[in-house]
Amino acid sequence: MNPLARTVLTPLIASVFLGLGSSQISAQSPTLKVETDAILSPVSPTLYGLMTEEINYSYDGGLYAELIRNRTFQHRGKSFASWLPASRGNGEVEIDAGLDGPGAALSSSMKVTIKVHGAGDEAGVANTGFWGMGVKPSTTYAGGLYAKAESPMKAHIRLIADQTGEAVAEATADLSGAAWKQYEFKMTSKSGIAASAQHHLEILFDQPGTVSLQLVSVMGPTYHNRANGNRPDLMELMAAMKPNFLRLPGGNYLEGDTIKERFNWKETIGPLVDRPTHRSPWNYTSSDGLGLLEFLEWCEDLKIEPVLAVYAGYSLKGEHVTGKDLEPFIQDALDEIEYVTGDTSTKWGAVRAKNGHPAAFPLHYIEIGNEDYFDKSGSYDERFQAFAKAIRAKYPQYKLISTAPNTKGDPDVQDDHYYRNPEEMFLLVHKYDDADRKGPKIFVGEWATRTGSPTPDFGAALGDAAFMAGMERNSDLIVMAAYAPLMVNVNPGGMQWSSDLIGYDAIRSYGSPSYYAQVLFANHLGDHTVKTTASGENPRFFWSATVSTAEKVLHLKLVNGSSSAQPLTLEIPNAASGSATVYTLHGASRWITNTIEHPDVIKPVKSSATWKPQLSHDVPANTIEVIDIPLK
Ligand code: AHR
Repeated sequence: MNPLARTVLTPLIASVFLGLGSSQISAQSPTLKVETDAILSPVSPTLYGLMTEEINYSYDGGLYAELIRNRTFQHRGKSFASWLPASRGNGEVEIDAGLDGPGAALSSSMKVTIKVHGAGDEAGVANTGFWGMGVKPSTTYAGGLYAKAESPMKAHIRLIADQTGEAVAEATADLSGAAWKQYEFKMTSKSGIAASAQHHLEILFDQPGTVSLQLVSVMGPTYHNRANGNRPDLMELMAAMKPNFLRLPGGNYLEGDTIKERFNWKETIGPLVDRPTHRSPWNYTSSDGLGLLEFLEWCEDLKIEPVLAVYAGYSLKGEHVTGKDLEPFIQDALDEIEYVTGDTSTKWGAVRAKNGHPAAFPLHYIEIGNEDYFDKSGSYDERFQAFAKAIRAKYPQYKLISTAPNTKGDPDVQDDHYYRNPEEMFLLVHKYDDADRKGPKIFVGEWATRTGSPTPDFGAALGDAAFMAGMERNSDLIVMAAYAPLMVNVNPGGMQWSSDLIGYDAIRSYGSPSYYAQVLFANHLGDHTVKTTASGENPRFFWSATVSTAEKVLHLKLVNGSSSAQPLTLEIPNAASGSATVYTLHGASRWITNTIEHPDVIKPVKSSATWKPQLSHDVPANTIEVIDIPLK
């Protein structure tokens, strides 16, 4: 009987499965020997995690459950992006910039002047959302707006289906008073409608008058019903990756193009009306609705730890700060650490409690800056040392991450970034095999194989899997790794950077082949590596062998990046004879991929295989296999 006779347990995919063939065991055939009692090194318990920044409409128009685009009425003259005049019957409307707002942070508004002439007339404004608004049946949408009205006005707030004009959910708000006030409302969608992104919001009035609007918000359902929270589907996709940490916020978003446009955390906390918003280096305005506390709550909801990235006095267009001028930025970092970790007796711990989260968050790692090897002024050594000295004086318990190689100041960890194509990634697999173990540990804080757009194709998944095999083998050194970027809104204009792990529009979301490679690798990882010896394999064949001690399971990962099958004699002397579980990710070519329209082309297939200490096994072309093998 074929030793690898397969029973497909969970056929998760529609893609063609080539199967695990068998070949005759012969002296010449390529061999992989796995000696599970020859322990090599520990696997970091925090190896796989997430990195986040506002890019590709990751928060606004993505994870953040807000439906309204430009809710704070950024404008050029009378033109407010994503807002349009709207009317019913013979209603008329004029839109203008309002010169005041509900607070210092939002100090302008949209002034709407309504004229109605008879019954049935209504006029006001419409918001187009982020390439539409995702509306599902029988779902409650929680909204709010700030307004001042010269005379009492009833606002009719409706979610409208684009194709039919039908109001699928509605609410009213009675606006009154010449002073700014906040109004809240809830609307529940009709039961019979189809879930769709083809919706917009209208706020119409049936009386004449003038009303000024600011911070118009409509939130969809959120993960764990968290107020001001995140889209459940995207959180569930992340949860399935079994991450251990969230690097927040990473990337260029931390630095901003200029110092003024950095991630200034103090302007991202507290009531939304006190958040001024800011321009991100990816050329759009961030609402900062997903601010520092929301990042931390995102960690809490996924039961993971933050890796806190603090702004370190360098911005992308080259502005940088040294000497005494660094002091306020260092103080901001100390305050930020206190906001995250301090109890409520501390100044910033008390602010966090006032913001709604009395409990402190766990923290072990602090990253100082982002990609500071781009700072050609050479100021990073000084900046790192100044931040490190101040942080270590107050918080000696935290591990500090430097973002450039050979940083002076004794970093605990160094952040390395890699963006490559599949062939380049294959060449990178052995990068850390002989690396110095006496220096800082390594955080691969951003990495990805970049083929496929907007999300990676199967060739990228092969590159990723090969690289992950290398990271697992070197996980005594590599303590953490995070793919980047994590998310992309796939609508035209939504993407600033390809390839991105998870794609979505206003209503749907999907995982790329690379996403499924991550899921498989992170969910099947042991606590130590074991000795492997290979011979005769093709140059695009990679593997990782880790063992879960308590469960007595070998997690064997085999990656065949070649367009030919890899015949193999597998020798695992300690394998228990019996059944192993096989997860297969296979693509007919490197170009095949998942899309928002066809999200299930490449997905893992789970099957069982009869196992014994020595057997022959063909790893098909273009295939990633993760095999859980019980040990004696
Ligand atoms: O992940 C995209 C960008 O790549 C990040 O913002 C930056 O850190 C890197 O250069």
